[in-house]
Amino acid sequence: MLNLTNKVAFVTGGASGIGEASALMLARQGAKVAVVDLKIEAAQKIADAIKATGGEAIALVADVSDPKEVENAVANTVLHLGRLDIAVNNAGIGGEQAPTADQSIEGWRKVISVNLDGVFFCSKFEIPAMLKNGGGSIINIASILGQVAFANSSGYVAAKHGVVGLTQTTAVEYATQGIRVNSVGPGFISTPLLGALPKEALGPIAALHAMKRLGKSEEVAALVTFLASDEASFITGNYYPVDGGYLSV
Ligand code: NAI
Repeated sequence: MLNLTNKVAFVTGGASGIGEASALMLARQGAKVAVVDLKIEAAQKIADAIKATGGEAIALVADVSDPKEVENAVANTVLHLGRLDIAVNNAGIGGEQAPTADQSIEGWRKVISVNLDGVFFCSKFEIPAMLKNGGGSIINIASILGQVAFANSSGYVAAKHGVVGLTQTTAVEYATQGIRVNSVGPGFISTPLLGALPKEALGPIAALHAMKRLGKSEEVAALVTFLASDEASFITGNYYPVDGGYLSV
């Protein structure tokens, strides 16, 4: 049991998959949670589930690729929940599947704007809020594809490599001011995001992991929750895979 009592968490993409599992697990350890998503009804369901078990949560709508919406969401979190200690910058999309020369300009811009700009915008507005109470923990959800290639996904892979570099840089900048910043690199996890792939691709993708299976959102959330906690007090600036051995094969 990690003690997150009195801590306030901001989880983007908190209405589904890894973000949903992280919001629920952070709340189970005692954190108050702002569930932030494009889909407000789905976000409200997660906030209600937290409240139903005695926790405190709010749902906020924001598109992470819009800096103004991110700024408002962070401000509303502080307004309604009192402070900001933990941020899980998780919202993301799969992006267009095509070799680099065939990727559309719009497809490239879209995946960079959500998966990379979004993490920057969140960090930009989370950091001042965290500094007001002496620090915090930022967890950026990258991917195994923040370390290695994946054909037909150059925009996604570039965005996730960018998230790893952004994480390291932010960590170095704020390390002496009490903010820890880490990135997490999930292998392929069974969430609605994989719904974009043809069903017959899932078996071969599972086989790329040493464990020969897809991961579960809760397996990523467990690492996120540990990094959020004070038990991870000397951990910053790094990238942690949670990948069933994908990067070791
Ligand atoms: P998901 O599709 O289940 O959930 C993503 C959530 O983000 C959804 O609720 C969606 O509404 C929200 N969202 C999308 N665009 C948004 C925007 N512009 N602003 C605010 N919210 C937005 O996806 P999943 O699988 O849980 O992915 C979460 C993160 O994990 C993503 O960053 C993804 O790239 C990363 N990841 C996922 C892997 C997987 O195999 N599922 C593997 C490695 C990384």
